[in-house]
Amino acid sequence: MTKKLLVFGGSGHAKDVIAAARVMGYERFGIVTTDGTSHIEGLSAVAEADFKPDQYADWDCIAAIGNNDHRKRFYEQYAAKINFVSIISKEASISESATIGPGTYIGAFAYIGPDAVVGDACIVNTHSIVGHDAKISDFTHVGPRVCLSGHVELGKNVFIGAGASFNNGSYDAPLCVPDGVHIGMGCQITESIRHQNVRLIPKPNYILMQR
Ligand SMILES: CC(C)(COP(=O)(O)OP(=O)(O)OC[C@H]1O[C@@H](n2cnc3c(N)ncnc32)[C@H](O)[C@@H]1OP(=O)(O)O)[C@@H](O)C(=O)NCCC(=O)NCCS
Repeated sequence: MTKKLLVFGGSGHAKDVIAAARVMGYERFGIVTTDGTSHIEGLSAVAEADFKPDQYADWDCIAAIGNNDHRKRFYEQYAAKINFVSIISKEASISESATIGPGTYIGAFAYIGPDAVVGDACIVNTHSIVGHDAKISDFTHVGPRVCLSGHVELGKNVFIGAGASFNNGSYDAPLCVPDGVHIGMGCQITESIRHQNVRLIPKPNYILMQR
């Protein structure tokens, strides 16, 4: 039977997800975007206003949108009507005891360690490391080449920019990032963050000077 994947989103992140899904054996793709625009060559999009979920009852589905709020909105609106699945790159390495929720994308060369838990509609992007016993809550986006050491716990709707790295926590004292926090690319997080919905930006690591 032809494997069919409905994708919410038609931009750069959707390209990554579709590329991984093709290798997993999906042969037919449908795209739905808010305004009917698609940036994916050869795949036109249906505008959400014209989208009829009951026509996709036997399709798998994922929201492939980098923005956490938008991805969450699509997942919550349609999860009861269409079968959301995780799309896991064949080049990712997932420990047997790790758990990954529906609607989550794991990119190429990502590593998910033993007893790690990744929630629903999350992104763990290319080359990222999710250490043993780490927890990633629903609708959180871990950018490319992020290093979450063991026992790091991310709340819901967290965004981690490319290349950020985290000190390890422990069984008694995990390193925690509360809901809604945005962490800038390149940050080095050495201890738990106390406040929800804050934004962390590292000091600039270079200064522009005349040669
Ligand atoms: C954390 C982040 C989301 C904040 O974005 P923002 O709220 O729009 O912040 P701004 O871009 O307005 O930046 C504010 C200031 O901090 C600086 N800044 C922002 N992020 C920075 C970073 N990671 N390192 C160093 N300086 C940074 C900006 O240059 C700007 O400086 P200025 O006021 O002197 O011009 C963003 O900086 C970031 O890290 N994005 C992640 C990008 C990424 O990983 N993409 C891959 C996704 S798959």
